[in-house]
Amino acid sequence: MATAEIGLVGLGTMGSALALNIAEKGFSIAVWNRTASKTHDFVAEAGSLADRITPTETLAEFVAAIAAPRAIILMVPAGQAVDDQIEALAPHLGPDDLIIDAGNANFHDTNRRMRALSHPFLGIGVSGGEEGARHGPSIMGGGPKQHWDRVERVLTAIAAKFEESPCAAWLGEEGAGHFVKAVHNGIEYADMQLIAEAYGLMRDGLDMNAADIGKVFDRWNEGPLQSYLTEISGIVAGTDDAATGGPLLDVIVDAAGQKGTGRWTAIEAQHLGAPIPVIEAAVAARNMSARREERATLEDIYGPGPTRIAADTLPLETLENALIAGKILCYAQGFQMIGAASDQFGWHLDGPAIARVWREGCIIRSAMLDDMATALDEAPGRSLIAAPFFADWLKKTHADLRAVVAIGAGAGIAVPALSAALAYFDTMRTGRGTANMIQGQRDYFGWHGFARLDDGTKDRHGPWAED
Ligand code: 6PG
Repeated sequence: MATAEIGLVGLGTMGSALALNIAEKGFSIAVWNRTASKTHDFVAEAGSLADRITPTETLAEFVAAIAAPRAIILMVPAGQAVDDQIEALAPHLGPDDLIIDAGNANFHDTNRRMRALSHPFLGIGVSGGEEGARHGPSIMGGGPKQHWDRVERVLTAIAAKFEESPCAAWLGEEGAGHFVKAVHNGIEYADMQLIAEAYGLMRDGLDMNAADIGKVFDRWNEGPLQSYLTEISGIVAGTDDAATGGPLLDVIVDAAGQKGTGRWTAIEAQHLGAPIPVIEAAVAARNMSARREERATLEDIYGPGPTRIAADTLPLETLENALIAGKILCYAQGFQMIGAASDQFGWHLDGPAIARVWREGCIIRSAMLDDMATALDEAPGRSLIAAPFFADWLKKTHADLRAVVAIGAGAGIAVPALSAALAYFDTMRTGRGTANMIQGQRDYFGWHGFARLDDGTKDRHGPWAED
């Protein structure tokens, strides 16, 4: 009988958690998975929530179990699997049945699907990992607003709440939701890299053990750096390994994985001409981390890089301030990139609304995001680093960012994201930069033209002196 209020395809980790969350919030849900045994195991383990879950074995049975006009969430791996799943579902669907891709899709794919499909389609970014999906993710909606309105009740009910306010919102047309999710992930990469660099300075520079480093993160999590990522870094550093009895962190291979969303953000930033150097540095750092053999060879050639730092030259408060500055600068870049995309694609993205959606549930949730929402509300198009609240923070912390980058450079400890943050700050606070030299070079070798400062004229040329 077609009674389920919503359907969900794909009972992997995220799909299962989301389906349980939907059932727990009182909605009846039909589920389907490619392997039917997984569907049955899922329902068997759903406990009292099983009453609201309809397991189905074929797509025809699945679609028939959902009340029309249907809403179907896809939770399948991004890429070809989404296209395949849509193709398999399509013959069973009515013209008004809505497909919602809740995976980490590339927003270009979402744009393409939205244009090509005859069915209503939404692309929503869902953040918060398994725990978030189960108990309250952050949800970034994109696509035609009237389709979002059809499922808003379910999506806001299952979303994380920040002081009662759901962290779920329709953000814009087309692939806007997946685009914002990709920027979220870019910031996630950058924030994680900044934390990893602080860890490196403490481990290699200050010779601190993992447990002590964990305590520092725990302490920082009670101040301005309070965030999910700071919190879990404390837990990660403080965990012992059952096999060796030593810190688990010490036996983890130093090569970071990535599924690609941070890379997409860096690529898209180039298309948009949006400077996001901290995020780019974080993506590059993951790529460098993966080259373990090459790094070992180079260590043999050049000798070990890091040297010890005297504790009194790097007080932990200085490091904390550097992280605060780095974090503000990287979020500022992310929001500016969102603004650039909004202009480019005509999406009218609402920066403050995005900051509000990120306040709870997602991986980058942090105390600072509430202040960012307020700062963006005051002047939506303005860079966060020009907002008085964050300018005050940067005035207090940028000298420490500079000190930490200098200490890292002096000790041979790589701090690419912190360095990128500092270079961005120094570049953007310098009214008279050095690109006049680049314009001179371009005109010299290619007659590309330059604008003059003195009389405001454009497309001027040499003559240049002969050598
Ligand atoms: C989230 C995360 C999630 C992402 C993982 C792993 O918001 O819940 O961003 O969507 O898939 O964090 O990403 P990487 O494998 O690229 O590190």
